[in-house]
Amino acid sequence: MTKHYTHKPVLLKETVRHLVTDKNGVYVDGTLGMAGHAMGILSELNKQGRVIAIDWDPEMIELAKKQLSNCEEQVTVVKGNFADIDEILPRENIAKISGVLFDLGVSSLHFDKPSRGFGFKHNGPLDMRISPENPLTAYTIINKWPYEQIEHLIRISGERFSNKITKLIVNERAKNTIVGTSDLKSLIEKNFVCRKDKIHPATRTFLALRLAVNSELDNLLKGIHNATHFMAKGSRMCIITFHSLEDRIVKETFKSMVKLGGWEMITKKPVKPSDEEIENNHRARSAKLRVIEKTEA
Ligand SMILES: C[S@@+](CC[C@H](N)C(=O)[O-])C[C@H]1O[C@@H](n2cnc3c(N)ncnc32)[C@H](O)[C@@H]1O
Repeated sequence: MTKHYTHKPVLLKETVRHLVTDKNGVYVDGTLGMAGHAMGILSELNKQGRVIAIDWDPEMIELAKKQLSNCEEQVTVVKGNFADIDEILPRENIAKISGVLFDLGVSSLHFDKPSRGFGFKHNGPLDMRISPENPLTAYTIINKWPYEQIEHLIRISGERFSNKITKLIVNERAKNTIVGTSDLKSLIEKNFVCRKDKIHPATRTFLALRLAVNSELDNLLKGIHNATHFMAKGSRMCIITFHSLEDRIVKETFKSMVKLGGWEMITKKPVKPSDEEIENNHRARSAKLRVIEKTEA
């Protein structure tokens, strides 16, 4: 039986309210996922309004197309990396947009489907690629990369014990290839105390691998930069982040845009989900929405 995957869009009302300033405009959803935000945006638009919806993962594209089958005339679905928005929009003959959304990271499907190798609840291959065309997998990093490179990527994810974890990995792989997410999880788990009130000791290592495999932080910077060239006066960029590494990049980049001129910060403080939303969707707990507006043509 095929499993039915779902993803609850985070900060949906708040995002749509901040993003849609022109009901006849063209909007880019750079992270289509299961189309929750795209449908929210469409519900606010007039018939002339349009959404260009991008996702890097062909599996998400297929699921989203089904969700969007009733509004095909107003949506163009594109398989691609949002970092390449400067190539995608000209291909679609779009010169100016009224807003862009990046709802960062991966979707619930990625975590819930063991074969994608993102999560450690169930065993799966050490994959973690958003796009199957990406030649790099977590397996390659864990089993082939030198100590220094692995330690560096784990350290910059905010893991205090990057040295200890990397030593465990390097010692283990000298004896046995580390194949599955469970192998990596138990290797770390066996050597750390798991406390109920703390995150699992493998959490930051898994995040670090995902970020490195998919060049997520580089894509974020490129995506912001490349999207700015298409933004019309009065258009907004909305970014939802889920961890401090992403949020720091968005906060600092938005600040320097305002300093350079031609931009206004709409959210002085990030918008966070209500207690009710967190109760209904645990994955929303760390979400932060930041919004900036272009004030010059
Ligand atoms: C948090 S989910 C988005 C969920 C979506 N807003 C919804 O309501 O269902 C992030 C999505 O972005 C996609 N993604 C991640 N990095 C990407 C990139 N660089 N370019 C395009 N899509 C990307 C993932 O495949 C995933 O489907």
